[in-house]
Amino acid sequence: CGIVGYLGPRPAVPILVEGLEKLEYRGYDSAGIAVVNGGELQVEKSAGKLQVLKGRLNGNLNGARLGIGHTRWATHGRPSDVNAHPHLDCTGKFAVVHNGIIENYLELREELTTAGHRFVSETDTEVLAHLVEQFYEGDLFSAVLRMLPHLRGSYALAVASAYHPEEIVGVRQDSPLIVGLSSEETFLASDIPALLAHTRNTYILENGEVVHITTEGARVYDSRGIPRDKKVYHVDWDFQAAEKGGYAHFMLKEIHEQPRALRDTLGGRLQPDGRVKLEGVNMTPETAAYIEKIAVIACGTAHYAGMVGKYLMEKLLRLPVEDDIASEFRYRDPIINEKTLGLVISQSGETADTLAGLRAAKKAGAQILAITNVVGSSVAREADHVIYTWAGPEIAVASTKAYLTQVLAEYLFTLYLAEIRGGAPWAADLGRQLRLVPDNVAEVLKAEGQIRELASRVAKHEHVFFIGRGMDYAVSLEGALKLKEISYIHAEAYAAGELKHGTIALIEKGTPVIALATQVELLEKIISNIKEVKARGAWVLALTQEGNTAIEKEVDQVLYLPVVPSLLAPMVTVVPLQLLAYYAAVARGCDVDKPRNLAKSVTVE
Ligand code: G6P
Repeated sequence: CGIVGYLGPRPAVPILVEGLEKLEYRGYDSAGIAVVNGGELQVEKSAGKLQVLKGRLNGNLNGARLGIGHTRWATHGRPSDVNAHPHLDCTGKFAVVHNGIIENYLELREELTTAGHRFVSETDTEVLAHLVEQFYEGDLFSAVLRMLPHLRGSYALAVASAYHPEEIVGVRQDSPLIVGLSSEETFLASDIPALLAHTRNTYILENGEVVHITTEGARVYDSRGIPRDKKVYHVDWDFQAAEKGGYAHFMLKEIHEQPRALRDTLGGRLQPDGRVKLEGVNMTPETAAYIEKIAVIACGTAHYAGMVGKYLMEKLLRLPVEDDIASEFRYRDPIINEKTLGLVISQSGETADTLAGLRAAKKAGAQILAITNVVGSSVAREADHVIYTWAGPEIAVASTKAYLTQVLAEYLFTLYLAEIRGGAPWAADLGRQLRLVPDNVAEVLKAEGQIRELASRVAKHEHVFFIGRGMDYAVSLEGALKLKEISYIHAEAYAAGELKHGTIALIEKGTPVIALATQVELLEKIISNIKEVKARGAWVLALTQEGNTAIEKEVDQVLYLPVVPSLLAPMVTVVPLQLLAYYAAVARGCDVDKPRNLAKSVTVE
C-alpha cells in the first residue's frame, strides 16, 4: 500500500493523485482520497486502478488545500469500494489512511462495537478511525497519541479531521513514512518517489515517531509527544533509484525487506501461548482429522517452497506429503480424494497450471488450502482455506520475499494442524523459535559484503552445483533456480548422496560446489559428500551454522549462518543464496529484475 498527504496553499487533489501515481507500483487494487473542504471531510474512493478514482474525481473536491490519499494492496478484506481507504469513523469527522497491519484489530473492533461503534468494512484500518474519534477531546494530535499504546503491529498512518482543516497527523511503526518539506507546504508519503516532484528535503520518520503537520510546517515527536530534534535528509538520488528505496534493483530491495515481510506474515497469528490463529483457515477438528495426505501443487519457486513444507510436515505431522509440479500434477491422474488436502502455493494466485491443478484436486474431492500473496486472486477465491503471505507486492521477476513468507506460512499451518488435531509436544517450542526467524534473517543479511565477494568468484563459471541433504536439498533447489534465472549460469542442485550416481562425472578442477550443511543430524554425511567432490578438484563453498568450525578444513570457503534448529534452517539458509545469485547476476551485467525469457506471472499453460 502507499500513503500520501498534503497541506499547503495549492489545490490538494491533483497533488495527492500525482503522488499516488508514483506509489502505484506498491500495489493498486483500490485507491482513495479524503480532503477537508470548508469544514467538511469529503471522500472519494474506489476499487480498481487509480484511473477509476481519477474518473470519479473528475475535477471534484478541487477547493481543498489539505488531504490524505491511499493506494491499496489488499491484506484484510478483498479489494472493493468499501474496503478502499480512507476509512472514516461513525461521525464522519475523522479519516485515516494506513499501510501495514494492525494485528489486534479484531480485539479492538469487538471493544469498539460493544462501545457502540458501527463498522462498514472488512479492514483492520477502520478501527483506527473509530479509535481516534473515541480518544478525541478537541485536539487531533493528542487523540492520535492516546491511541498508539492500544495498537499492535506494523503500520504507517495519516489522520485528517473535519474539525482541523489545517492539520494532518502521521505515525510510523515498521512501515515507512516520509515527510516532504517545502517553504509553504508539507507533504507526506510512503516513500521518496512520491515526493520528488515537489521537494528533496525530507524527514525520514523512525519507528514510533509521530509527525504533526500544520500551516507552520512539520514537527516530529516521539510516541509520548516529546519533540524530537529531527535532521533534514536531502535526497540526491534520481527518481528511478528512489522507487527502489535507494537499492540498485527491486530484487535487492525485496531481499532486504524479508525481515519485515516475515514479521508481517507472522503478524498476530502466533499467539503468546503458542497457539496459531489463521484468519482464512476454518477447519474443524473433524475435517482436520479426516486429512490422510497432503498434496502440494505449485510451480517454480513456489514449488520449492512446497518441498521445504514436505520435509517439515512429514517430520512433524507424520502425514504423507506429495509435492508436485502443477503442470505434471494436472495430467498424471493423481490419486486424490476427499481425504486429501491440496496445498496450493502461488505468489500471484494466477498461475495457469497451478490454478488448473487446484481445480483438478477440488474436482477429485480434496479440500484446498491456498498460500498466496494476492488477496482476491483466483487461487484465493477458489480455495476452501487461504493463508495470505503478507510479503507486499513483489516486483522483481525472481521471487525472494514471497518464497520466504510461503515457507513461513507452511510452518504456521503445521502448528495450526497439529493443534486442531489434538496438540503436539513440539508445538510450543517451534512457536518460540518461529518468532526469532525475522531477526535471524536480519542477522544473515549482514554477511552481504562477504557474499558479494564469493559471488564475484562464482560469476566467472558457467556451471555451478548445489548440494544438500534433507531440508538443505530443498533449499539448494531454490538456490540453483535463483542463480539460473538471473545470472544465466547453469546451476544444478543435487541431493548430496545422489551425486555419486552420475552427476559427479561433471566435477572437474575448479568447478564451484555450494554445499549446504545446516542439518545437524546429517552433518557427517554431507561432509563425506564434500570430500567426494573435493577429491575431484571442486572449489567448495559451505554454508553452515556458526560454531561449526570443523568444516573449515574440508572446504575452500565457509559462510557462517546464525544458529537455528535444523528444522528452521531453510528460512535462514536461502537468504545468502538469493544474495549470491543477485551479485553473480550483477557481476555478469544481467538485467536482474527482468531476466530474459521469463515472466512474473505465467497465465498460460
Ligand atoms: C513464474 C515466475 C516464478 C514463479 C512461478 C510461479 O514462472 O517467474 O518466479 O515462481 O511463476 O508463480 P506463482 O505466482 O504461482 O508463485
